[in-house]
Amino acid sequence: MSVIDEIKDRLDIVEVISSYIPLQKAGRNYKALCPFHSEKTPSFVVFPDSQRWHCFGACGEGGDVFTFVMKQEGWDFRTALEELARRAGVELRPRTPAQRQAEEEADRLRGLLAEAARYYHHLLRHAPEAEAARTYVARRGLSNETVARFTLGYSLPGWESARGHLTERGYTIEELVKAGLLVQREDSGSTYDRFRDRLMIPIRDLQGRVIGFGARTLDPEGVPKYINSPQTPLFDKGRTLFGLDLARQAIRREDRVVIVEGYMDVMQAHQAGFANVVAQMGTALTEAQLKQLQRYTKRFVLALDPDAAGVQATLRGVEVAREALEREWEPIFDPRGLVGYEARLGAEIRVLRLPRGQDPDDLIREDPRRWAAMVEEAVPVVDFYLQILLEGLAPDDTKAKARVVDTLLPILRAVANPVEREDYAQKIARALRVDARAVHARLRSAERRSARLQRGTARTQERAPSRGVTADLEGHCLTMLLQRPGILSQINDALRESQLEPLRGQDFQDVGYRAIFEAWETLLTTEHPVPIEALRAQLPTDLHARLEGLLTPDEATLADEQLVRDVVLTLLRLRERNLRQLGQELSFLTLEAQEAGDIRAEQYIEALRAYRETLLRTQQALAQRWGWMSRGRAA
Ligand code: UTP
Ligand code: MN
Repeated sequence: MSVIDEIKDRLDIVEVISSYIPLQKAGRNYKALCPFHSEKTPSFVVFPDSQRWHCFGACGEGGDVFTFVMKQEGWDFRTALEELARRAGVELRPRTPAQRQAEEEADRLRGLLAEAARYYHHLLRHAPEAEAARTYVARRGLSNETVARFTLGYSLPGWESARGHLTERGYTIEELVKAGLLVQREDSGSTYDRFRDRLMIPIRDLQGRVIGFGARTLDPEGVPKYINSPQTPLFDKGRTLFGLDLARQAIRREDRVVIVEGYMDVMQAHQAGFANVVAQMGTALTEAQLKQLQRYTKRFVLALDPDAAGVQATLRGVEVAREALEREWEPIFDPRGLVGYEARLGAEIRVLRLPRGQDPDDLIREDPRRWAAMVEEAVPVVDFYLQILLEGLAPDDTKAKARVVDTLLPILRAVANPVEREDYAQKIARALRVDARAVHARLRSAERRSARLQRGTARTQERAPSRGVTADLEGHCLTMLLQRPGILSQINDALRESQLEPLRGQDFQDVGYRAIFEAWETLLTTEHPVPIEALRAQLPTDLHARLEGLLTPDEATLADEQLVRDVVLTLLRLRERNLRQLGQELSFLTLEAQEAGDIRAEQYIEALRAYRETLLRTQQALAQRWGWMSRGRAA
């Protein structure tokens, strides 16, 4: 028995979940108000028989005891495994020496950064030298509670103040350099404080542990305005969102996150009671950041400064990068990337266009209600780009109009839903006052062109299809993905064509496989293909053997096209199986509710209808794929 099974065997899901939320017995099952979204009637159900849970309301999520605690606590799989193992009294396999060493080092750096944050905070509150900083903070309208909540601090003007304080506490120069607090001179190797005479803003991870700092100059003319910690073993700007530790509960509760540019915007928003706000810290939004947020919501609002170089560059970038993007998907968020991301995740991305020269910080201080209204009025990302492109366009400049259409085509093509896509084509035609048929024609010819390109690059080698694997469909999917990561986007394209959700962690009912998939997918955003050692390092030791098992190279000679078919088929079968199981549970619930005269019967019937629809679509896709596959084989 694997440790995962052993833990599940020893823990009762009802007991674990009821230690977090009150459960109410209903027939054979238990009900509660879903902890993952706000609702008035309980649609969250725990099934003691299958030891699973499911929300039949807005979030539609479900899983086992692992996924529950991961979602509830914001834990990664490793932490969930450790905590539940402790609860169940199951012993885990020790970490590898390399893992242990990396963790010890990380712990030490975390201790160091926590101490540094305390030190800077103390200075801001009490040091005579911090008088100007205290005035600055007050002038920016930050309250004492906010200063305490974000543990804002102040760094002294000297070149070795922090170094002195922290080495006295037993940390080495080397550690201080590694944590990003000291800069090392190249020639002499001597060191000095990175942050001097600045307002110190600790940056924290999901668990609220300090991993770095943003440091603002107090001088209105000071350059650079902000200095941030460099990349360290703990801090990766592209994977971190400022304020997420404080925002995640609110994001989940409100089922929406607002992403702003800067530290000040986040602090001001939280102070005014808008707790679902996080910042990307000035750089472009990354897929890793969106993925992280997606654990709490699929509704994103980006607050963009219309003059920011970013938006303009993005727009210019679309034209320049289009050719490159045609070839490979890049983790840069141009509008097409964002729309494609919406499509892949079934997410909703909206843009809040800030008034010229104002950022959320100013807006909120001026009029918090206006800010709230602007968040409500944020427009879908495609509409936003349409607006921007249409601005200042002369009504009779036909060349410019053609350019606008061409710029919008790749964005439009990334819209998954064909009905929506047609709607936008109409909208563009109307806005440009051109014939809708012309826009459609261009759109279709672009679609044909890209289909041709895809066929051209697909390998044509034909071989017998792989052995039918029924026992371990999930492992089979993973094996193929690990071997040929390039097929992931093709798999998602195929799913999208059938109006089905892209491949995601929830497709794996087995938490071990799910953890492997999610770790792999995250690594994939930066490294392509993912080095197996990197993946292994991400995973608890208890999953290493499982990972090895997935690395058997028996599919190595199949063409991409066949692998895509194979994975899609396997996945559809998996989903069919899962949907059937859910449908059965729902039928039971409905019956029980009807017999008890419970008003929730209506809700269950509605959910059941939705499940049947998805099941039907899955089955139709399955039938089509089979047909396609057997034709493929005959050829
Ligand atoms: P802004 O210049 O808009 O910062 O840059 P802000 O938060 O509004 O700053 P205030 O209101 O003038 O104090 C947005 C974000 O870009 C990053 C920071 O994360 C900042 O919050 N940034 C900006 C830097 O990292 N370095 C800089 O020099 C400037
Ligand atoms: Mn500002």
